Amino acid sequence: MPNLPILLATSNPGKIRELGAILKPLNLTLLTLADLKDQYPPPAETGADFLANALLKARYYSDQSHLPALADDSGLEVKALNGEPGVHSARYGGEDLGDLKRSAYLLKKMANIADRKARFRAVLALAYKGQSLTWSGELVGEIALEAKGENGFGYDPIFIEPQSGLTLAQMPLEAKNRISHRARAGEALSLDLAKIAAFLGQFSQG
Ligand code: IMP
Repeated sequence: MPNLPILLATSNPGKIRELGAILKPLNLTLLTLADLKDQYPPPAETGADFLANALLKARYYSDQSHLPALADDSGLEVKALNGEPGVHSARYGGEDLGDLKRSAYLLKKMANIADRKARFRAVLALAYKGQSLTWSGELVGEIALEAKGENGFGYDPIFIEPQSGLTLAQMPLEAKNRISHRARAGEALSLDLAKIAAFLGQFSQG
């Protein structure tokens, strides 16, 4: 695998921790936005779905930094709410709500809804010089009746993982990282090592 640095194009510390752990075995040199000399304002996430937003971010940060950039887009889809909050997961209920109030807002919307089915989805996109590769993963579960647990971030306290019956926030971070939507997208990526090597390799030859 050619050792071209890859820019991990997210500023969410929870995701940097998770993606760093997931990608560690791949032995890539990873930089984050904080490692760069220049800082770039985040692009507006105007895509209609997670794939469009992941590609939009990867292409933007790659164009700005002139490095291959790996971006992710992820969020929660609730079946009974027709896939909401979806691409609006980070801003659902108001830009300035913290994680706990955002989860409380969703619980309130679900107050009289018996069908609690939901899934987390994640898309990873690697972009460089007009080309891209993408991977996706999902974690199916249910929205809890009340928030429980202290770990993780975002909607973790209200998302029940069906095998354990625990919310993701009640699970140790390592356990969540083995089964999360990002872990599954990361596994899909790790099965594509040869493809990634070929992708990066075409740019190191001249
Ligand atoms: P993004 O930064 O545009 O990908 O927004 C993702 C948003 O979806 C986050 O701000 C969280 O609200 C939510 N989200 C994504 N992944 C997770 C997770 O693993 N746990 C809890 N919430 C998540």
